[in-house]
Amino acid sequence: MADVSVETASPLKAQLPPGASGESTDVWGAAASLFRQEKKACFVVADANVLRLHPSLKAALKGHVVVSLPARESSKSLAVVERLSALAQMLPRSGTVIALGGGTIGDVTTVFAHLHKRGVRLIHVPTTLLAAVDSSIGGKGGVNVKGLKNALGVFHQPDACWLCPELWVTLSESRRREGAVEALKMAATLDAAVFLRWAWGAVEQSQWIREARALKTEVCRVDPYERKGVRVVLNFGHSFGHAIETASRFKVPHGEAVALGMVCALDIGCATGVTPSSLRAQVLAQLPQSATLRRRLQKAFRPLKVGALQKLLWADKKNDAPQTLKMVLLKALGQWTTIDVEPQVWQAQMRAWKSGSEP
Ligand SMILES: NC(=O)c1ccc[n+]([C@@H]2O[C@H](COP(=O)([O-])OP(=O)(O)OC[C@H]3O[C@@H](n4cnc5c(N)ncnc54)[C@H](O)[C@@H]3O)[C@@H](O)[C@H]2O)c1
Ligand SMILES: [Zn+2]
Repeated sequence: MADVSVETASPLKAQLPPGASGESTDVWGAAASLFRQEKKACFVVADANVLRLHPSLKAALKGHVVVSLPARESSKSLAVVERLSALAQMLPRSGTVIALGGGTIGDVTTVFAHLHKRGVRLIHVPTTLLAAVDSSIGGKGGVNVKGLKNALGVFHQPDACWLCPELWVTLSESRRREGAVEALKMAATLDAAVFLRWAWGAVEQSQWIREARALKTEVCRVDPYERKGVRVVLNFGHSFGHAIETASRFKVPHGEAVALGMVCALDIGCATGVTPSSLRAQVLAQLPQSATLRRRLQKAFRPLKVGALQKLLWADKKNDAPQTLKMVLLKALGQWTTIDVEPQVWQAQMRAWKSGSEP
């Protein structure tokens, strides 16, 4: 157990059966030893790339049932959930499902864990930084329907999250940046002190992962089912982000789309008088590869037509009524609000976005 450290466990939780506290335990350690410590056979849904890149996992996974999936958006489907169900018939209600992968594997596995025998214990092993700071917390799972992102979804709290840094060494630089984008989203909207500390100097990877996880965990504790108007803050940058991601048919990866969506949200914040332009500049400067943001946004917007974009924005789950667009905007570092944005407001920004300039 020397290489494993357990965090956030409370004495009360230790007396409860798995999942009963609704609280997830963070365990930092090596994946191989954590898998070996699970005494009963678990049902592991694993990213095929991760299994290929980390052959040493093979021995550790012995004794567990392992199903490998490609980590692409098409794997987030009801057809895949059905396939998992057919393969997991032997897994009892007291059994454990483990999602070994990034947000794609995590999302579809969460839906499966929620539905299998009306819900079984779930452990996330996030293999991307985006999953480590974001998708492995808060219990959201989703599948896409007819190209519409996360059209069907569930809340199913994980019992634990295993954070295994050795799995992250094979991530590309661009995947690392995607994790940093979601972490920065949380610091900018929720905690000025954290944002400024990250901006001032190099912060170790495990440190910013812990801090971002703590921010998201607190939001989800206050508003676990996104009904109290708090959890919506995590969607900062996601209104346009999801639209860009979906319009590109998921060729623009999630974290990159969110970075571009944050540019849109900051521009709209300035246009509506919510975001001071100095704040926009401060946040944009901290986004990875900030010098090329406008060019990347221009490229993403080039094929987009107003009508198609309108439909995608209206399809956003945060909207309170049909044909409206509710956006999270930044008022100050660590302070946010939501407003209904009229079509003429964002359409007035389109010319600048399409030409690569700042509105
Ligand atoms: N449920 C939530 O709260 C939530 C939050 C944010 C994002 N998401 C969802 O997460 C998905 C995106 O997930 P993601 O960004 O984690 O990526 P991903 O799971 O789509 O994986 C991206 C790529 O990285 C590869 N990969 C994964 N781990 C690797 C590793 N250790 N080394 C090398 N390559 C590795 C995958 O094989 C894949 O090719 C989207 O569908 C998004 O909607 C969900
Ligand atoms: Zn996201």
